[in-house]
Amino acid sequence: MPSDAFVAQLNEQIGHEYTAHQQYVAIAVHYDAETLPQLARFFYQQALEERDHAMMMVQYLIDADERAVVPGVAPPLVDFSDIVGPVALGLSQEKRVTEQINALAALARTEQDYSSEQFMQWFIKEQIEEVATMSDLLRVVERSADHAMDIEDYLVREQLSEEGEDPTAPHPAGSG
Ligand SMILES: [Fe+2]
Ligand SMILES: [Fe+2]
Repeated sequence: MPSDAFVAQLNEQIGHEYTAHQQYVAIAVHYDAETLPQLARFFYQQALEERDHAMMMVQYLIDADERAVVPGVAPPLVDFSDIVGPVALGLSQEKRVTEQINALAALARTEQDYSSEQFMQWFIKEQIEEVATMSDLLRVVERSADHAMDIEDYLVREQLSEEGEDPTAPHPAGSG
């Protein structure tokens, strides 16, 4: 059984994942309106992944017969002055979430809640990938800030948002 402290903190994390979801939707809509379809596509896809993360956590709590609370979230930033800002924001968001995920794993261990510690392992691996992807993109966007089409070409070439099936991923609630 998950520890009470872990359940409370995981419920908070569901809110953080939805906050990330909303922020990525806002960024995607911004790029879409600027007619940068590849940047838009990348962030729409990132948003869906954040929603999945939240729903994986919901499913874990349901499976453990614990209460999962669907959170409200703070409004995302929607005003951006250049092409770099949203990606920099994305990277700082991923770094913050990495700290939150690590703190959840540490809490599970302190509480001797080993099933929750194991549940967090997939998210630790996922955060390493998300930080790496976003810092690669930030480097490209900074280098080509005045050449938006180079950034769009990069996204087409690298297929950053194509994840492929991950059989080790936890099951998101509601996904069949
Ligand atoms: Fe996430
Ligand atoms: Fe993420």
